[in-house]
Amino acid sequence: MPIISSCDLPDLIKAAKTLLQGNLVAFPTETVYGLGADATNSEAVAKIYKVKKRPTQHPLIVHISSVTKIDIWANKISNSALELASAFWPGPLTLILPRRKLAKNNITGGQDYVALRVPNNQIALTLLYEFENRGGSGIVAPSANRFGKISPTSAHDVLEELSVYLDSKDRVLDGGESIIGVESTIIDCTGKAPKILRPGAITPIDIKRTLNMNIEIKNEGSSNKVNAPGLLKSHYAPKAEIYLSGTPSLGDGFLALEKFETPKGAIRLARPSNNIEYARVLFKALRLADSKQIKKIFIVMPEGNDIALAVRDRLAKASSPRID
Ligand code: TXA
Ligand code: MG
Repeated sequence: MPIISSCDLPDLIKAAKTLLQGNLVAFPTETVYGLGADATNSEAVAKIYKVKKRPTQHPLIVHISSVTKIDIWANKISNSALELASAFWPGPLTLILPRRKLAKNNITGGQDYVALRVPNNQIALTLLYEFENRGGSGIVAPSANRFGKISPTSAHDVLEELSVYLDSKDRVLDGGESIIGVESTIIDCTGKAPKILRPGAITPIDIKRTLNMNIEIKNEGSSNKVNAPGLLKSHYAPKAEIYLSGTPSLGDGFLALEKFETPKGAIRLARPSNNIEYARVLFKALRLADSKQIKKIFIVMPEGNDIALAVRDRLAKASSPRID
């Protein structure tokens, strides 16, 4: 069992040391909880893949404390990538960039590109700062769930997902509920024009405001130079089956914006009042259905091109045929 820890400065210093000793630390970010390891320690990185049961060709996001650390990991950084980083870091944005030598194949899935993010969460930032202050270069952190499952948005969720796979030297930092609730927007910045590989809280409208250009969103199935495995297949899968149309029967789960009434006999999983709140409660609602042993969840998807894009993306994956 891992150590569950509060997040005062001495706890975060201990956690930074724990990481530097090659152990794992799960920590809160504004999007979802991450399972962290020293990005330059190949044994610690291997442990992440083992604990998550994740195929090793799926690359990991390197978390850094500030945009000033970007050149440690990446080079040939385009102007638009720099503009995005300056505008949105710390924040729910991951940039894919040409890698420097420090980013080894074991964290890039063998590609010449590295994914970088500065999270906007005080606990994560202090952890990163203390880690870098003691010689660390970056913390790789995938969402702290088993491969193909729902991302955790609280320390409790992390324990539910991983406690039996973590050991007594690992830590889980408890920073309360994640504010955003869905993973970061991923932008491929390796080509001429940036392209969204995974929608998140930073929307195409936000990006247009910054770069003064429309950004392309990669469609499922379309090809791209940078391969981001994990973005195409079934993912975010609860035990319950997800239905994006149809009417629930007695005892089925139901998730929709507040303005939609609960169909007779269905079990309401959440009633978010807008799209931002929908994203925040989405994964929690899917977990709730599993804890109530609900077999089918009927969903009314949110509309619009804001964070609703991310909610629809996750739900489309949650409803696609399971990997296992
Ligand atoms: O919000 C987030 O991004 C969270 C928090 C913890 O930061 N992290 C997260 O990590 O969602 P993960 O590993 O669950 O999802 C990262 C996605 C994967 O689908 C992976 O394929 C893609 O990012 N990715 C990571 N590095 C990449 C790279 N070098 N090239 C292409 N895709 C990459
Ligand atoms: Mg994930």
